[in-house]
Formats: sequence, C-alpha cells, structure tokens
Amino acid sequence: MNVFHVVGTRPNFMKVAPVMNALKTRAHVVQTLVHTGQHYDANMSDVFFEQLGIPAPDVNLAVGSGTQARQTAEIMTRLEPVLLDRVPDLVLVYGDVNSTVAAALVCAKLGVRVGHVEAGLRSFDRTMPEEINRLVTDQLADLLFTPSEDADFNLRKEGIPAEKIFRVGNVMIDSLVKLLPSAQGQKQIGLPQNFALVTLHRPANVDDSAILKRILQSLLEVSKDLSVIFPAHPRTRKRIADFGLQAGQLHVLDPLSYVEFLGLQSRATVVITDSGGIQEETTYLGIPCLTLRENTERPITVSLGTNVLVGRDPDKLRVELSRILAGQAKKGTIPPLWDGHAGERIAAVLANYP
Ligand code: UD1
Repeated sequence: MNVFHVVGTRPNFMKVAPVMNALKTRAHVVQTLVHTGQHYDANMSDVFFEQLGIPAPDVNLAVGSGTQARQTAEIMTRLEPVLLDRVPDLVLVYGDVNSTVAAALVCAKLGVRVGHVEAGLRSFDRTMPEEINRLVTDQLADLLFTPSEDADFNLRKEGIPAEKIFRVGNVMIDSLVKLLPSAQGQKQIGLPQNFALVTLHRPANVDDSAILKRILQSLLEVSKDLSVIFPAHPRTRKRIADFGLQAGQLHVLDPLSYVEFLGLQSRATVVITDSGGIQEETTYLGIPCLTLRENTERPITVSLGTNVLVGRDPDKLRVELSRILAGQAKKGTIPPLWDGHAGERIAAVLANYP
C-alpha cells in the first residue's frame, strides 16, 4: 500500500510524526512525505522535523506565503502532477490548515482516497479559515480519524456515514508523550519561578491594529503580576512592527522548537493562547490555559480539561488569572484515548483497509 502524507505547517508536524512511525512497522506500507512549504522558516519547520524524527520530505512543493486563495491554489497546482505521477493508494492529510484542504480537493478530483487525521472538530465559526478547511476536508475524506466523541457527533450530524469514522484519539498527544521527558530534562537557565507563557497568531487577534493593541495592553497588565514569555509567530511579530505597537515588559522571543516550547509549557503557571493545539497540550499537562478566543473547536478541553475561554475581554482575563494566582485554577482530567497510542490505532485501521 502506497501511503502519502501531506503536511505544510508547524502544527501538522507533531501529528504526522507518530502516524509515520506507526506505519513504519507495517510491511505492506510504503510511505511518501510531501511538504507543501506553507511554513518554510527553519524555526517553523526544519527544527520540528529533527526533534520529532520525521524523515526529510520526499517532495517539497515550496509554495510559501500568499493570500488564502493564492496559497491554496498554489498547493493544488503543484500537488496534482505529483499525485498523477506517483499514484498513491491513500493520501493522509492533517489538521485544518490550507495545506489540508488543498490536498483533499486535489485527491477528490483525481479519485484518490483521502484520510483526514483530526477530523470532526468544529468551532461553528465560519469566519475562521480553519473552519472552512475542516468542513470541506471532512466532506471529501473517505476515512475520518477523530480525537474525541464530540468530533464523531459533529460528523454524524453532517451526514458522514458511521463506517467512515474511526475514533483513534489525539495524535498530537502521541508526540507530547514521547518528547515530554526530554523537554522536562532540559536545563532552563534564568527561567523565573512563575511565568505566563503566551502565543498569539490568529488573524482575528493580530491582523487588526486596535484589537492587537488591546491584547498587548492586557498582557502588559498580566506582566505586573508575573513574567510574560511570548515566543511570537512571524505573522504576529510582523504585525506588531507594522502597527508600531510596543511590547514593553513582555519577553518577546523568536518561535521556539517543539522541545523547548513543551518544556516551558510544562513549567508555566498559566498559558495564554489563541492556538488550537496548545489548548490540548495544556489539558494533557494539567496546566491552566486561558484562551483568547470566543469559541473553540476543541470543547473537550473546556468540559474535561484545564481550558477557559476568555475571548478578548480584559476583565475576564484578569478575573481568571487572579483565580489561578490564588491557587484556585480549574482542575482537569485527560480525555479518553489521549494516551500516546493514537498513531498505532490509525495504523491498525489501515491494516484492514482494502
Ligand atoms: C497557519 C494555519 C493556522 C495554524 C498556523 C500555525 C491556515 C489557514 N492557517 O497560520 O491554522 O494555526 O499556521 O502556525 O492554514 N510566515 C513566515 N514564515 C513561515 C510561515 C509564515 O514568516 O515559515 C509568515 C508570513 O508572513 C505569512 C504569515 O506568517 O504570510 C502567515 O503564514 P500562513 O501559513 O499563511 O498562516 P499562519 O498564520 O501561519
């Protein structure tokens, strides 16, 4: 069986690693890795390949940045001849980024079977590009691998037949479980005892100068109570510079490697973020997470985990933060099947796939 994996962005890399690893042991499987090049900076891509033990891509489409339409179209245009030439039996796509939907569309038109890893998540907010990517990808996929029960429920409601849906758990947690010991073993020189770890990159939070300014002001308030460590996505750094905003007391860093960031997450007093994956990682680690979004496609991190949605309301952020600093952080549990073996469960499904 000739299996292709198509990835393109930082959050795809920790999802593909455990699946490739699990499929390595299956004699009937030949794997090909395609990197679309949606993320191309060394600290957004290469370092993740090294740390996660992902083999060098067989094909790099080198699409780079662009508008939503241009980037998606470019991935489709460059992927189509590769698939026509190499004729995979199945293409696996990951998460909810432009690379995911672009690959799913090309496959569907060529009649190549697609498996979607991390299927079924819904924020019910179609202003997010990722929500469009999720909806379209799931309609096109032949195999849908879900992380949690809510995802199965969403898919069934959208008319996806039950026999296409496989609840395998959370593949990203597989990578976390594997690399947590080395992340915690790292020396952290000069790290304060208590600190807030911040990430921010959603277009809705960083592309509007007034909104970004208000968020930075809230974070400056936070920094009066504890140090704020802020590894900034290239998009966010660019916006802060373009809008002439000041990050003052915040410790703004370049994007960190997977292991460095995981080490910081596991030691943080609180994580403040608008990322999707970090809501899940903090839930697994039992670290309080305040999410700067009005909604989440990962509601299980709120119902079972440590996540609290604070939106963009500075008062809510302040109240939740004081609760955490007073030792009254929400206690969470780890959702079922977030156990480090999701990749193996995907491999087991594929072993029985004709
Ligand atoms: C993408 C995903 C988002 C995911 C995020 C993780 C989509 C629609 N969005 O958003 O879901 O959470 O990745 O990081 O697919 N840039 C660089 N170097 C890079 C990559 C990007 O400088 O290696 C800058 C460029 O200015 C680029 C901007 O970041 O225009 C945005 O990159 P893009 O891939 O379009 O979207 P992300 O915001 O990273």
